[in-house]
Amino acid sequence: MSIRRLPSELINRIAAGEVVERPASALKELIENALDAGAKSVVIRLSAGGLDLVEVTDDGSGMNPAEMGLALERHATSKLPDDAIENVASFGFRGEALPSIASVARLTIDSRERGADGWRITIDHGVKVEQGPAALPPGTRVKVEGLFDKVPARRKFLRSPRAEYAACLDSVKRLAMARPDVAFSLDHDGRRGLSVQPSDGPTRVAALLSHELDRHGLGIDCVRDGLRLTGVVSLPTFNRGMADQQFLFVNRRPVKDRLLVGALRAAYRDLLARDRHPIAALFVDVPASEVDINVHPAKTEVRFRDPAAVRGLIVGGLRAALDEAGHRSAAREQFAQPAAWQVEPAAAFFDRLPRESEDPASFLQGAHEGVAPAFAAVTEREGGFRPAARAEPATAPVPSYPLGVARGQVAATYIVAEAEDGLVIVDQHAAHERLVLERMRKASTGGDVARQALLIPDVVELDEPDCDRLEAAIPDLAALGLEVERFGPTAMLVRATPAPLGRADIPGLLCDLAAELAELGTALSLRDKLDHVAATMACHGSVRAGRILSVAEMNALLREMEITPHSGQCNHGRPTWVKLAHADIEKLFGRR
Ligand SMILES: Nc1ncnc2c1ncn2[C@@H]1O[C@H](COP(=O)(O)OP(=O)(O)OP(=O)(O)O)[C@@H](O)[C@H]1O
Ligand SMILES: [Mg+2]
Repeated sequence: MSIRRLPSELINRIAAGEVVERPASALKELIENALDAGAKSVVIRLSAGGLDLVEVTDDGSGMNPAEMGLALERHATSKLPDDAIENVASFGFRGEALPSIASVARLTIDSRERGADGWRITIDHGVKVEQGPAALPPGTRVKVEGLFDKVPARRKFLRSPRAEYAACLDSVKRLAMARPDVAFSLDHDGRRGLSVQPSDGPTRVAALLSHELDRHGLGIDCVRDGLRLTGVVSLPTFNRGMADQQFLFVNRRPVKDRLLVGALRAAYRDLLARDRHPIAALFVDVPASEVDINVHPAKTEVRFRDPAAVRGLIVGGLRAALDEAGHRSAAREQFAQPAAWQVEPAAAFFDRLPRESEDPASFLQGAHEGVAPAFAAVTEREGGFRPAARAEPATAPVPSYPLGVARGQVAATYIVAEAEDGLVIVDQHAAHERLVLERMRKASTGGDVARQALLIPDVVELDEPDCDRLEAAIPDLAALGLEVERFGPTAMLVRATPAPLGRADIPGLLCDLAAELAELGTALSLRDKLDHVAATMACHGSVRAGRILSVAEMNALLREMEITPHSGQCNHGRPTWVKLAHADIEKLFGRR
């Protein structure tokens, strides 16, 4: 075995393996360089998801020709003037991004300092092929063409232009949130993908996150032991099927740190099902001495001196805010709907019970229409409610239904029913979600699912990649009863929803379906993944916890549960109802 020193070109390619994984990571490095150069405006152009072209133009300091030559050498950086890596405030400091990218693509830098002439250098897979004067305004333009074209091993791992574009958009959003004082624009294949003007932090975050956060978001600002946490998170009721809308920053540096992601998850632990995720943009600010940013080649992870303190800050801070919001929204909800609190006369209740011949499902659906305004976002957490219950006079005889007859509703979440042999408590949201899923399943086995046309088609704004995914799935979605159309680059038009769903939360449904499609990939057809998709749909057609139900609705729900398979478990595996037998109750009171 003979040991040899590797040629610098090979060293750069090895480094590229860590730093440049896909177009989005090259783009991230170029934007970071622009920001480090003091740019006030960053203009990005992409072709074919960045596979053909990634170009970043800035109005920063620019470089002179000698500096440009150095910039392309490995371990050459202007960002560590005094060797104090602990105090580095710039995004870059390793001096390897540009030479790494240049080793696996064709890289052209045009740059010009203020008051000087411009210069251009082109490197093709590590070899300088051209240099000379260039005309451009002060600043720098870096162009990366044909990334990994000559590195087949790498090219193999790249995904479709659409998927690569989605990753690029994500990189841009993260950096744009980190630096709200800088203008960003992004064009993809000649189409505008994003454009933001300089603003303050909250305005920037609001511009880049779901608009729904205006109503369903919660501002965070807390300080603990010299650590600060600011930002916005979604209320538990506004969640996603994928953790793709979580933007985390440490000292304004975007990170994808496991500790932070874990802490976010922990804060929502008993507020969300395991497969649901909050939306969040969170900024952790700590003294520079408390964090080591030099632990990951792409600098997306950090190491905290006191990880427990950071975790405590996030879990404690979010938890306090979420608990507080839970109380508030529940209280407001009840105040807003005094009419829903009126007790129905027992006679009306019996009149509206489903007849033998009537399909309880359709009855239940019909009942929803009448009280639709009662739908509203209320936290699903029991602890968030003031004591709230309504009761029916217990004069009616008890027909022999296994799940009994509704006697009342507790905390706008649980139905209490009296059965012949005991007391039944039903989680209305969990139960209804299950019923809807079973309806969807049943409907789809007999061919296409029936549609319910919307009187006025609904326009739902989404990211372009989300729209792309939904557009690609149009025929499959139609078979499931969801009729959508592309409506411009960043919106979908919804014409009809699956009939078994009843009244659905359409924007939430589309948003989650897009996330679901991203996660499932395109390997199997949607019909093969029917169950996943149907479950996602079911969740959006469901009676939410926090909705006041009429007695007739409660009874219809109980009757449908009795005839539906698997209705004892919700789609997340929790029970939908429990029963206390008379004997159990007697035991509780020491009568036995
Ligand atoms: N857009 C730009 N404007 C001005 N100078 C730039 C620009 N891009 C790069 N440079 C100069 O080129 C040098 C090398 O850039 P490169 O990205 O390779 O390394 P770095 O940013 O120093 O560290 P890292 O590898 O961590 O990103 C930088 O230190 C900077 O001086
Ligand atoms: Mg850099």
